[in-house]
Amino acid sequence: MSILVTGGAGYIGSHAVKGLLDKGYEVVIVDNLETGFESALDSRAKFYKGDIRDNAFLNDMFSKEDVKGVIHFAANSLVGESMTNPLKYFDNNVHGTRVLLSAMLKYDVKHIVFSSTAATYGEPVRIPIDESHPTSPINPYGEAKLMMEKVIDWTSKAHDLTYVSLRYFNVAGAHPSGEIGESHDPETHLIPIILQVPNGQREKLSVFGNDYDTKDGTCIRDYIHIEDLVEAHVLALEYLLAGKKSDIFNLGSGDGYSIYEMIEAAKEATGQEIAYEIADRRPGDPAVLIASNNKAKDVLNWSPKHTDVKDIIKSAWHFHKKYPNGFKG
Ligand code: UFG
Repeated sequence: MSILVTGGAGYIGSHAVKGLLDKGYEVVIVDNLETGFESALDSRAKFYKGDIRDNAFLNDMFSKEDVKGVIHFAANSLVGESMTNPLKYFDNNVHGTRVLLSAMLKYDVKHIVFSSTAATYGEPVRIPIDESHPTSPINPYGEAKLMMEKVIDWTSKAHDLTYVSLRYFNVAGAHPSGEIGESHDPETHLIPIILQVPNGQREKLSVFGNDYDTKDGTCIRDYIHIEDLVEAHVLALEYLLAGKKSDIFNLGSGDGYSIYEMIEAAKEATGQEIAYEIADRRPGDPAVLIASNNKAKDVLNWSPKHTDVKDIIKSAWHFHKKYPNGFKG
């Protein structure tokens, strides 16, 4: 029996593949390599290059493999891009999920763990954010993820299919080997951008706003280590394989750090100065996003282990020192 990982060549997908393989699962990867990287593929897994919107491709893969469950990462994931090209998100992310689900039904694959996001909540009305917080996305990326959650939910109500949707907060860090890590093109995420400074690729970073209503004026986020995130996916998969009911869980550390605190932690983690300048606010950024992670702890028996952001940044630094230009370099 195998577990299918869609988007297994991407940042989070490639870490999940290693996590599953290390636990003894056989893994099949589907990725179109549009934003994923061939060098992030684990040779222990079977790889099918193709697009989840391609029905014939998926049917061919499912007919050859004995897939018992799916972990679905394949999606575009840039908030800014989704604002200027929303249809790309509704096509690849929502339509792609629809095609994947219909192939799963056809081949009697009964379980799916879905990679969702805190962006489904939109501007928070209370902190910490628990799973009962209203969902009101403020960008097409978050809207598409919420639609995908709903498409999966309605499908599960009509068919013999169970799911877990995992709403991530800010995922960061890298595999302990340093062989895979966070690599996007273009890069927009805070930690890889901070690390471009000590890596000599950028003179300074821009801090997007220091006039928020927070302790030091900069935005506060909840950073969760990729290894903890992957562990939660494996637990969610095992929860479904054990016959438990469909549900939604937040994945965050439950702690918030400001951008200034992240810069300070990066200075300590790298032993180097990190120059920065204050820039305008980035449109669409909420001041504070912090998860309540109690439900995942209680129901999935999950507990994040990398709770110190300095350690999270250290693990990211390990990867970025090895691959200063990401996987292209
Ligand atoms: N930031 C900077 N300078 C930069 C880059 C980021 O100041 O060069 C700030 C942002 O303004 C934000 C914080 O650092 O306040 C974190 O920004 P990221 O882009 O790293 O992450 P986001 O919080 O914007 O996004 C994350 C996920 C998205 C998800 C979103 C949910 O990466 O996938 O949370 O709201 F949609």
